[in-house]
Amino acid sequence: MAAAFDPEAVRAFEHARWQRAAAVYGETFAGATRPFIEALLDAARVASGTSMLDVACGPGFVASGGRARGATAWGLDFSPAMLAVARARDEAVQFDVGDAEALPYADATFDAVVANFGIHHVPRPPLALCEAHRVLRRGGCVAFSFWAEPAENVAWRLVFDAVARHGDRTAAQTPSPGGGFATTAQCAEALREAGFADCTTHLVRATWRHRDAEGLVAALRAGTARMAAMIEAQPPDALVAIVADIAANAAGYGDSGAIAVPIAAVIASGVKS
Ligand SMILES: C[S@@+](CC[C@H](N)C(=O)[O-])C[C@H]1O[C@@H](n2cnc3c(N)ncnc32)[C@H](O)[C@@H]1O
Repeated sequence: MAAAFDPEAVRAFEHARWQRAAAVYGETFAGATRPFIEALLDAARVASGTSMLDVACGPGFVASGGRARGATAWGLDFSPAMLAVARARDEAVQFDVGDAEALPYADATFDAVVANFGIHHVPRPPLALCEAHRVLRRGGCVAFSFWAEPAENVAWRLVFDAVARHGDRTAAQTPSPGGGFATTAQCAEALREAGFADCTTHLVRATWRHRDAEGLVAALRAGTARMAAMIEAQPPDALVAIVADIAANAAGYGDSGAIAVPIAAVIASGVKS
């Protein structure tokens, strides 16, 4: 039986994992998250003069992307290790430590709040959306991205299917997530419940390039949280079979001696009316 949802256990698990991943995140998992930045900024209508907050900013690539458009950018994350990387990368952004469920900003501070693959890591995503709503000015936009379901998202499907065939998808002893925030319908509904109007979702496609299947698995193992825990929990012989399975099924994505695996994300957005 799955353990009961415990928000503090989720927060502690996520915090420990992201602290550990921070030093290598930029060279590993960020390769999957960066292709969606411009679409996310477009969805939040970030332009010159916008004051924007990048929630769960990690190394701050989205905040820097906003700044490149002429926005004034803040970044917030609960991982001091991620923020150390962010501050070293971009001194022009104000990076603050804090929790997405309790933002350390006054009401109506920002024109835009964005989160690139951050909201679903928060124990209670609806609370994070309510906080985004609170700190937005009237007419301001929220936009967040999350991974499309494996049917649309080839890299994730390759890994999950290989683990199901040769290992155990439930092998990691990770705290149960809150749930209810995985599909486009659930996310649009959560935006409406947080008070947003004009709620929309759209699918964005990209590719994630690796030298081979082993490179893909290594990037996920080093640069993620739940996915890393699942991979680490597989016995060594199962892991060998998992990598071989991914290699066989990714053969069709070969590109100049590497693999360019399709990935897909949903971008959800809304307006504070
Ligand atoms: C997948 S990374 C995304 C990083 C970045 N937004 C990007 O585009 O690559 C998830 C980030 O969420 C942060 N995070 C997770 N839970 C959080 C919370 N409750 N409050 C603030 N940050 C959180 C992690 O520290 C990590 O930096």
